[in-house]
Amino acid sequence: MKSSILTFTASVLFSLAAADPGHGGHHPPTFQQRCARLAQTFHPDHKTQVLAAEFLPTGTNFTNPDNHPTCQSKPFTITLTDMCRLRLKVKTSHASAVELEAWMPLNWNKKRYLVLGNGGLGGCIAYPDMGFTAWLGFATIAHNNGHLGDTGEHFLNNPNVVEDYAYRAIKTATKAGKKAVRHFYNTSIKKSYFMGCSSGGRQGLKAAQDFPEEFDGIVAGAPANDINNLWSISGHYYKLNGNPGDASYLSEEQWTAMRNEILRQCDGLDGVVDGVIEEPRTCKPRFEALMCGAGKTWTSHQCLTATQVDTVRKLYEPYYGTDGKLLYPEFDPGSEVTDDVYGGVPPSATEWWKYAIFNDANWDFHSQFSLQMAMDMKALDPYGISAWKPLTKLKQKGRKLLTYHGLQDGVINSGNSYRYYEYVSRTMGLTSSELDSFYRYFPIPGGSHCHSGAGNWYVGATSQVGRVLNAKDIPAEGGVLMSMVKWVEEGVAPERITGRNMNAKTGVQSSIKEHCKWPKKNKYLGGNPNAKESWGCTDP
Ligand SMILES: *[C@@H]1O[C@H](CO)[C@@H](O)[C@H](O)[C@H]1NC(C)=O
Ligand SMILES: *[C@@H]1O[C@H](CO)[C@@H](O)[C@H](O)[C@H]1NC(C)=O
Repeated sequence: MKSSILTFTASVLFSLAAADPGHGGHHPPTFQQRCARLAQTFHPDHKTQVLAAEFLPTGTNFTNPDNHPTCQSKPFTITLTDMCRLRLKVKTSHASAVELEAWMPLNWNKKRYLVLGNGGLGGCIAYPDMGFTAWLGFATIAHNNGHLGDTGEHFLNNPNVVEDYAYRAIKTATKAGKKAVRHFYNTSIKKSYFMGCSSGGRQGLKAAQDFPEEFDGIVAGAPANDINNLWSISGHYYKLNGNPGDASYLSEEQWTAMRNEILRQCDGLDGVVDGVIEEPRTCKPRFEALMCGAGKTWTSHQCLTATQVDTVRKLYEPYYGTDGKLLYPEFDPGSEVTDDVYGGVPPSATEWWKYAIFNDANWDFHSQFSLQMAMDMKALDPYGISAWKPLTKLKQKGRKLLTYHGLQDGVINSGNSYRYYEYVSRTMGLTSSELDSFYRYFPIPGGSHCHSGAGNWYVGATSQVGRVLNAKDIPAEGGVLMSMVKWVEEGVAPERITGRNMNAKTGVQSSIKEHCKWPKKNKYLGGNPNAKESWGCTDP
């Protein structure tokens, strides 16, 4: 099914407005006609094939016709502006290709170009985000990361697809998208941006490290860099928890009770009891507080056994390798209620190991994973997928990076973003005020993984706008993307990022907060905790 068109009004109005007011019948082609003709006019090279070119008027119900069933984004996107949709396929090797889409709005007077990232195993195009950023006026590119669907099956027997996933798909799509946008508008691009979260955050860091010349500004949320260790910590968690019925195992209800106990002990540390631990790193709870006394059980008293408390305690310890060196930072207190903790090994980790690392569809994570394997994979680091290097090139090229990370992220522990920031600081020998000229990090207290959360999680980012009702009614200024634009185009660097607590279903905003730039921290000053004036920043 192709996208269906709800309203024709906009397109009719547009054709009338854009028609040449009459020079003897030779009308230059309209936006709509130039769009439809892209299949004939756009032939950049033998590697590139046009799969679709169509005009999408405002109000089109776009039903993601080409996304794979494993893609979990919203099943449809209502377009907010008149635009041209182009879908391309670009070969990346003899046995692989990336498919990308360009959503090019009619109103493109700022000439901004934006590439969006992917999540998870990554073969899904972020349509809801595209609809939003095209409405904001960006010629927006998103791509399938070199394979169709949020699955690792395509890695099996095809290292080319692994290489695409590591860096090549985004690099290829970025370059191809630029050619398409220049061709369609017949003019140059003024500024180029990237925005992604999770796997998309990792893509952003990869670009910042290895090909920063492609972007003037990069926004990377909850970056999944050091991804080898991220995918092995899943095995570590699984080994700690065990299976339902094991003495070590905690159910979702039991984790919820533990989360409530942690909040009881730590929520007030920041001066406000609001369900948000402003700085989870300072929370050192006594988990034994939830341990059963004599004759008590979970059923009778909602308490835990000593063995279960031991499971919990270990989860909050950093994850170390066989050499005693850190593999990955610990879990954030307050982030407990997530599948990744009690739901077994996430499919993305299993599929990565199975298909990309062992090339064996029968390999079983639950029975075969070991710490030695984690060490080996870290050393292997296929195609530099870890994205763990200093930002020397980014600095040299004068480009900019903004990272953010929810501090209630149960999927990617926020410690990873602090750790990367401090690693860059040390390896480049730059203080935080020196890093400020090209790299700024904003922790987002009460933000879950990329979207949602008990705190002021909405920062106008990837995978957020498609989830809140009427995202276009929320000012984009002060959010991560438009703050980056202001930094790049006006030289006004962001000191704070506006976060909102949004009810995704009703669209109601309950509070607003200006999140501070690391190493400053949010500080409660007194007064109504839901008002932004009640919060300031600590000294660094
Ligand atoms: C868009 O189309 C899909 C699939 O036909 C449908 O389920 C959905 O309700 C439509 N959305 C709107 C807002 O009309
Ligand atoms: C593209 O722009 C150039 C320079 O402004 C102009 O000469 C040319 O006719 C344009 N091409 C098309 C196809 O509009």
